[in-house]
Amino acid sequence: MVEISTSILSVKKGKESDTYFRLEIAKTDYFHIDVMDGKFVKKDTYQDMLENASYIKRISNLPLDVHLMVEDVKTAIDDFLVLEPNIVTFHLESCNSKEEIYEIISYIKKNHCKVGISIKPDTKIEEVYEFLPYIHMCLIMTVEPGKGGQTLLTDMLYKIKKLKEYINEKDIQIDIEADGGINLKTAPEVKKAGANILVAGTAIIMANDFKVIIDELKK
Ligand code: DX5
Ligand code: ZN
Repeated sequence: MVEISTSILSVKKGKESDTYFRLEIAKTDYFHIDVMDGKFVKKDTYQDMLENASYIKRISNLPLDVHLMVEDVKTAIDDFLVLEPNIVTFHLESCNSKEEIYEIISYIKKNHCKVGISIKPDTKIEEVYEFLPYIHMCLIMTVEPGKGGQTLLTDMLYKIKKLKEYINEKDIQIDIEADGGINLKTAPEVKKAGANILVAGTAIIMANDFKVIIDELKK
């Protein structure tokens, strides 16, 4: 059974509280918080995500799955740790050295939070291998980060498959989360490739009945 992390990026303005409540009833496993700084990616959702995540924190016990698409990772970690997220995921591509990556991993852990590393479509899966024993989740972007509603890049399925084979071979216990363009059509192949947490934004938020779609994606 996979878990579902609903991206709040496409939640309609003014419908936030109703949407979050309905998502909770529909049993999303996480709220996926897409933090964008307007530099690492064009869009800037930083303040909006801070406000929405702190609102969710106040009204729900469901865990926050924070996805940092920012250049200044440390500042973003400090800003979002306040909300006691379940996990903070940063991009390999926003770091300039291995030392920096290890430093961020330990910084997040020192703050009693789980760590995820995300890689963009053009980044080879091998680049994340050495960090896997020290993190809790690897987030494979199945679209170019920066906006919701895109079409899943099917080449990324091979990357998920390779990662799954590698962690099985090395007996590394981590979650594989796939993010971008996931819907009822693409979910089966993403799960088959080996992802055990699926991020979905548009596919869920646009649905009339959140529970039907979440149950279907979980199957
Ligand atoms: C894109 C974000 C994804 C995106 C998912 O940069 O990381 O989480 O919002 O949205 P959909 O499911 O609409 O592709
Ligand atoms: Zn995301």
